[in-house]
Amino acid sequence: MNKETAKILDTLKRPLRDLRISVIDQCNFRCAYCMPKEIFGDDYAFLPKNLLLTFDEIERLTKRFALIGVEKIRLTGGEPLLRKDLPLLINRIKLVEGIKDIALTTNGVHLAKQAQTLRDAGLDRVNVSLDALDDELFGKINGRNVSVKVVLKGIEAAQKAGLVVKVNMVVKKGMNDQQILPMARYFKEKNINLRFIEFMDVGNSNGWNLEQVVSKKEIVGMISKEIPVEPVDPNYFGEVASRYKYTDCNAEFGVISSVTDSFCSSCTRARLSADGKMYTCLFAEQGFDLKNLMRNEISDEELLKTIINVWEKRTDRYSDERMEITKKGNRPKSKIEMSYIGG
Ligand code: GTP
Ligand code: 5AD
Ligand code: SF4
Ligand code: SF4
Repeated sequence: MNKETAKILDTLKRPLRDLRISVIDQCNFRCAYCMPKEIFGDDYAFLPKNLLLTFDEIERLTKRFALIGVEKIRLTGGEPLLRKDLPLLINRIKLVEGIKDIALTTNGVHLAKQAQTLRDAGLDRVNVSLDALDDELFGKINGRNVSVKVVLKGIEAAQKAGLVVKVNMVVKKGMNDQQILPMARYFKEKNINLRFIEFMDVGNSNGWNLEQVVSKKEIVGMISKEIPVEPVDPNYFGEVASRYKYTDCNAEFGVISSVTDSFCSSCTRARLSADGKMYTCLFAEQGFDLKNLMRNEISDEELLKTIINVWEKRTDRYSDERMEITKKGNRPKSKIEMSYIGG
């Protein structure tokens, strides 16, 4: 990073380091906390192909973001492995100067088949979502009766291919909180980093309320009652998960506590939707349309200036404000959906 990029800060003095790129808004699961079937039914209007960013456009944007400090790229969806020819995109991102880490967040269904190709293309890491080990429960949560085995096979294939693997478990009271300990034990044994995610009020369709959140304190309490654990320092500035280590081995787990212990003050993430809008917060209501500018032949220089301008105006700190606005009944009603922005 040079002196110039170090100077690009938002209004709360946060630099831009990570770019999360959604490559498709569709998913083969229907997790009720993300894409409830009643809303994302057969007639739901997903983005048509011509509105998705092309690989040329994604590469062009990645280059501009890298010029102002982005080092980490995370590909998301919907389910990113449903995007055709994804390894070709990874290949191109890998070659962008300044990009040091390429990761992917997936539900794991297509991982067994694709892990090696993704790794060969230059992917470094995958975060695989898995909310339960109980097959019947998992089938219900994912809304498609997909069994746990499919995802575990994907995880195994990813490890075999040399990808660094983490597992994400969204914890929702009454849905899967009884799976916290079985999941902790299982992934401790496998020495895989499991992250428990507090259920969040992303989008407008998951019926979120505070009573359904199992807090970081409760999660860590539940685990440490059975297995001794100790906190560990973050790997890097702005890491989303609080880290813990089991004292009797090297395995660790994390908790992503956006609700009860937010982390906006160190948030260095920008997001691109599959249709090319730049969002400066997961809970934003509006994005800045970069695709339109590109399709209207904006120069590289102007494109860069526009991105800098959006970042420098950024004021977002939604998770810091959530409790306050929830108490007042002021939560915004038209936030973007998780499946559209990829978490
Ligand atoms: P690592 O690079 O492995 O640390 O990835 P990550 O944890 O940032 O990414 P992942 O896609 O696995 O996200 C895990 C959970 O963290 C998801 O539920 C995301 O929605 C949530 N998350 C990631 N970034 C943010 C953020 O900036 N704000 C909030 N509120 N949640 C976030
Ligand atoms: N709250 C917390 N995490 C969520 N995810 C999807 N919806 C929510 C929600 N409402 C998780 C997914 C995936 C990651 C990108 O975000 O399970 O692991
Ligand atoms: Fe579930 Fe992830 Fe698909 Fe949402 S995008 S429905 S959380 S698998
Ligand atoms: Fe960043 Fe918005 Fe999440 Fe806060 S709520 S950490 S500002 S994405």
